[in-house]
Amino acid sequence: MSGKKAQLTIGDQNIDLPIYSGSVGPDVIDVKEVLARGYFTYDPGFMATAACESKITFIDGDQGILLHRGYPIEQLATQSTYEEVCYLLLNGELPDKAQMENFSSSIRHHTMVNEQLQFFYRGFRRDAHPMAVMCGVVGALSAFYHDSLDIRNPEHRRVSAIRLIAKMPTIAAMCYKYSVGQPFVYPRDELDYSSNFLRMMFATPCADYEVNPVLAKAMDRIFILHADHEQNASTSTVRMAGSTDANPFACIAAGIAALWGPSHGGANEAVLRMLAEIGSVDHVESFVRRVKDKSDSTKLMGFGHRVYKNFDPRAKVMKQTCDEVLSALGIDDPMLELAMKLEEIALKDDYFVSRKLYPNVDFYSGIILKAIGIPLNLFTVIFALGRTPGWIAHWQEMISNPYKIARPRQLYTGNTQRDYVAPSAR
Ligand code: SDX
Repeated sequence: MSGKKAQLTIGDQNIDLPIYSGSVGPDVIDVKEVLARGYFTYDPGFMATAACESKITFIDGDQGILLHRGYPIEQLATQSTYEEVCYLLLNGELPDKAQMENFSSSIRHHTMVNEQLQFFYRGFRRDAHPMAVMCGVVGALSAFYHDSLDIRNPEHRRVSAIRLIAKMPTIAAMCYKYSVGQPFVYPRDELDYSSNFLRMMFATPCADYEVNPVLAKAMDRIFILHADHEQNASTSTVRMAGSTDANPFACIAAGIAALWGPSHGGANEAVLRMLAEIGSVDHVESFVRRVKDKSDSTKLMGFGHRVYKNFDPRAKVMKQTCDEVLSALGIDDPMLELAMKLEEIALKDDYFVSRKLYPNVDFYSGIILKAIGIPLNLFTVIFALGRTPGWIAHWQEMISNPYKIARPRQLYTGNTQRDYVAPSAR
């Protein structure tokens, strides 16, 4: 609490509204008093609304800063591991050696899914979008884990968190294997998190599969860069679902569904489709003209952000990783040259500069995923996998503190009360 107050004058009423300060970032004005005076606040899209208090992630959109529990994303992405970032998001501190070994071991012992789960895949067509499959399968997990669904029990919350983080790579790889008609590959205890995922994705019963350490490191970094991002649409969906006391598996399934939209996590897939549509550097100028033409709904996918009005720090690390992976693999992907040309032109064009539109996390990620061998329709599944610890950390933070069911109000502009008219009289 800051003791500071804002004053709202409505007619002859002066309303004192408390102002609260965080450890960093804008102060917030507590507006709940307006309800007692017969008003609602109005903020479609929550452009100016802090929906909760949180200690997990801080973003400064103007400075292009992203901190997870205070640690800059640039440092975590280059010095940490995804499993360690999962521990940090869930527990608030970096683990010591024993804590990390214990956490890793817990994850490794929950990577398998119930054998019955494979039959959920068989209900889908082979060409079903993997996000539809992941949404259904993750939602179904609650049908298997009756022993860890008491959300008031901290141990149940912990086990559910471990189960979700451990099983998402297995479920994601199964989505891929099902789509290509190959048998599911079981996880291996001796492999690290990202190597295990890549082996489940690309191994077959016909030959041993050696994980390329360059790809495993790139995969791990991509997971880190997607791990959490404050109160984005899918995380807010998880919090809203959690506020109804729904079980954690159902809440994460709700987050996966929200993430799928091309304005959110579906953008990484949309960027590659956009680059393929542009086709060559020669067509970039004409494409940018279409984006700027208000009569054309074309957007520059992978650009712009509700919060970042500067470079998304994740995009910078992603671009650096792009260069590293492609050169390590000796890949000369024309898509990268095309993306860089698009970025160069956009960052000089007043349409984008005046609207503070910069590359976001999705602009370069798809090029790396393509180099790793991940198919286009699995890109958002990778995003969902990476975001799981963030979703769970926010769910846990909400559930373990006092909360109320999320229930926004509205500005009603529909018909006022009127009497029913019998069909014969219409
Ligand atoms: C993610 O919230 C998060 O943290 C999300 C995320 C996370 O980690 O969880 O960071 C992940 O979702 C990243 C964003 C991925 N989406 C895309 O790349 C899709 C393309 N981007 C846009 O759809 C858009 O930028 C949003 C949805 C990301 C943000 O939209 P806003 O904040 O509602 O901004 P807006 O649509 O009001 O745009 C302001 C202006 C508008 O023009 P005017 O009406 O002022 O003339 O900028 C224009 C928009 O038309 N604009 C774009 C544009 N993005 C915004 N014009 C062309 N191309 C774009 N990409």
